[in-house]
Amino acid sequence: MAHTTAPRRQPGVSGRSTSETRSPAAATAYPTKTDLPVTARVEAIALLNQRLADCIDLQTQCKQAHWNVKGPTFIALHKLFDEINEDVEEYVDLIAERIVQLGGIAEGTVGVVEGRSTLIDYPLTLSTGAEHVAALSDALAAFGRTVRVGIEEMNELEDAGSADILTEISRGVDKWLWFVEAHQQGA
Ligand SMILES: [Fe+2]
Repeated sequence: MAHTTAPRRQPGVSGRSTSETRSPAAATAYPTKTDLPVTARVEAIALLNQRLADCIDLQTQCKQAHWNVKGPTFIALHKLFDEINEDVEEYVDLIAERIVQLGGIAEGTVGVVEGRSTLIDYPLTLSTGAEHVAALSDALAAFGRTVRVGIEEMNELEDAGSADILTEISRGVDKWLWFVEAHQQGA
């Protein structure tokens, strides 16, 4: 489908950040009494801020689908997309608060997310259930992949707490991907 291959944003179109100029997360950490080494914390903070941007973007996409889906399966999908949104909102909070626990600043403004998210933009012209199922399953799968990469990154930094949080999120995203994809899999 076209939306699976489209670049997130064309350079210069938004007048803000582009994929070439994505703003890096701040490479500093507040002092804390945790025994996690500061070098690992600084790296984890930057990596988690990347996942935070993706997760906030995913949440907006769930709502976009929730609001705009139409057709005979409207009520089932309308409710499903809102349930997913509620869980994704919790994932956002888990990631953001972990960043702060590590001494970082959770960078969750729309401006930052716009420049940093690795998800493709949610298409605005979709209407049918099948179209929204295809688009939101793409977004869930893309986010799921980045979270799985994030688990490995946290393991390499020996930050078991962050790895555990991302593992919990990964389990949830896999479940919701199943719920959404099941609409495509009935014979
Ligand atoms: Fe609603």
